[in-house]
Amino acid sequence: MSKINIHDVAYVAYEATDLDLMERFLLDFGMTRSIRTEDALYMRGAGGNHHCHVTRLGTENKFLGGAFTVETREELEKAAKIPGAVGPEEITEPGGGWRVTLTTPNKHKIWVEWGVAKVPEMPVRRSYRMNFASEHLRHNSAVRQRPEATPVLRIGHFVLWVPDAVPEIDWFMEHFAMAPADYICAHDGEPGEETVVGTFLRIDKGKEYVEHHCILINQSIHFGCHHSSFEVLDLDAVTAGHDHLVSKGWNLDAGVGRHYLGSLIYDYWLDPFGNRIEHYTDTDMINDEYEPVRFVGTADETTQWGMAPPPNFFE
Ligand SMILES: [Fe+2]
Repeated sequence: MSKINIHDVAYVAYEATDLDLMERFLLDFGMTRSIRTEDALYMRGAGGNHHCHVTRLGTENKFLGGAFTVETREELEKAAKIPGAVGPEEITEPGGGWRVTLTTPNKHKIWVEWGVAKVPEMPVRRSYRMNFASEHLRHNSAVRQRPEATPVLRIGHFVLWVPDAVPEIDWFMEHFAMAPADYICAHDGEPGEETVVGTFLRIDKGKEYVEHHCILINQSIHFGCHHSSFEVLDLDAVTAGHDHLVSKGWNLDAGVGRHYLGSLIYDYWLDPFGNRIEHYTDTDMINDEYEPVRFVGTADETTQWGMAPPPNFFE
């Protein structure tokens, strides 16, 4: 069976005990309410997806799973053939469409979805061009950025915490057209033989350039989602959003800074239920000519500049 060609990340879903509180945070984070029902909150970005973040009302605060979109029914049918798959089922919640529910070796839920409604894109300013020392890209045009709930455009990736990383990574690579971007290795073994404890996976579209990763799988003492991550317009958007979230009194985790792997400019926040959530911009775009790095470094070395993440970020 050929691998599932995913189009993009669709959304992450959480259970939370208070939808009002989650919505207040996500509005300040730069999302917009797509729809809210009695027991669920669907938040969207400025892009055309019906939702990129779902919260289901419940008695616990926890991660429920992550979803990918496919562009054809045929790709959805491939997902349905994976052992343990449930579906395709018609989605009976806002946005509609069809869904296959998968369970990973570490018991995470992954949804593959097709035919979910699109919504009109929301107007946003253009990304500001920068006048680099070696290349001046902005002419007769000023930067005018105020602190604001910086518009989230789309979800870019999410990060799974798993007790056993290798079978999880193998499962994604076996069933999805994904390729490793970079590996995170533990400090043991000979060079080239270190234990892999995390792998960034990108969508494999051959020669087409794609973002450095759509998912990262990390071995951890925790289970759930290390963070979900949402793209914003540019560096000014990240910092303006940062100032806005500070002014609203939300909990900063780490940022602004630039990662080593993937080179993303990041800004991590904690939602009111302790879930880590990221604004990012300017990630590496790579294709099948990219040579994955086996990263064996200290926690400090994962940040190139800016506010480094706290120690519990690496647990
Ligand atoms: Fe991230």
